Amino acid sequence: MKKITVPEILKMKAEGRKIPVLTAYDFQTARVLDEAGIPVLLVGDSCGMVEAGYETTLPVTLDEMTYHCRAVARGRASALVVADMPFASYQVSRKEAKRNACRLIKEGGAEAVKLEGGTKAADTIRAITDMDVPVMGHIGLTPQSIHRMGGYRVQGKSKTDAEALMDDARSIEEAGAFAIVLEGIPASLAKEITASLSIPTIGIGAGPDCDGQVLVVNDMLGLMAGNRVPRFVKKYADLNRIISLAVGEFIKDVNEGRFPSKEHTY
Ligand code: KIV
Repeated sequence: MKKITVPEILKMKAEGRKIPVLTAYDFQTARVLDEAGIPVLLVGDSCGMVEAGYETTLPVTLDEMTYHCRAVARGRASALVVADMPFASYQVSRKEAKRNACRLIKEGGAEAVKLEGGTKAADTIRAITDMDVPVMGHIGLTPQSIHRMGGYRVQGKSKTDAEALMDDARSIEEAGAFAIVLEGIPASLAKEITASLSIPTIGIGAGPDCDGQVLVVNDMLGLMAGNRVPRFVKKYADLNRIISLAVGEFIKDVNEGRFPSKEHTY
């Protein structure tokens, strides 16, 4: 399959082709998703919540992101790998942001980085894109701002907030980002932002009119502890149930002496 690059992602928007994106955090998942034809793999800092069991994404470190990213990069053949910059890896100074973005490219094997924030993050985005490191922006419900937002709430509902988000999207595009994640905003606003930008928007909880859609892979495969997922998630499989049935059978086989049988014995 053809290698997906940043210019190819821009071309997809220009040609009106949709851009499906899924998160991945490990080698095996990256390989399966890549072989299934997903064009973009996002090594999201959501790994902190869905893989490590943290309450928020805030504790995730750059070392952890680098580790996950390296595993994903080894598993993909054609997908574009985008790595999230975790909290505190780009907010403190532009110098640190540049160094940390380089680390995700150099050690993690990512081909682009993603960071959260609108107009306030524009200078940082410019500093990173000036090093020829492609940046994906992320506005709306930005999980690293959980304490300011007071919870995972839909953003941009009032006219003032919607206008601020439109400004955020424009500043990020001007700063050189190649795409923007729109998370947790009204579908009508996402449609307006998408129409006003030349770079693609990737929606999550932002309605059907974005140029692409992203989901956390554990959510869409039904691999979440407790099985509670946000309303915007479509569950395409129930892997928790499949795993639970398989494990139950294994326990029974061992207890009743059916495993290992002759075929599994040297
Ligand atoms: O961390 C993540 O997985 C993300 C996506 C949900 C957009 O940022």
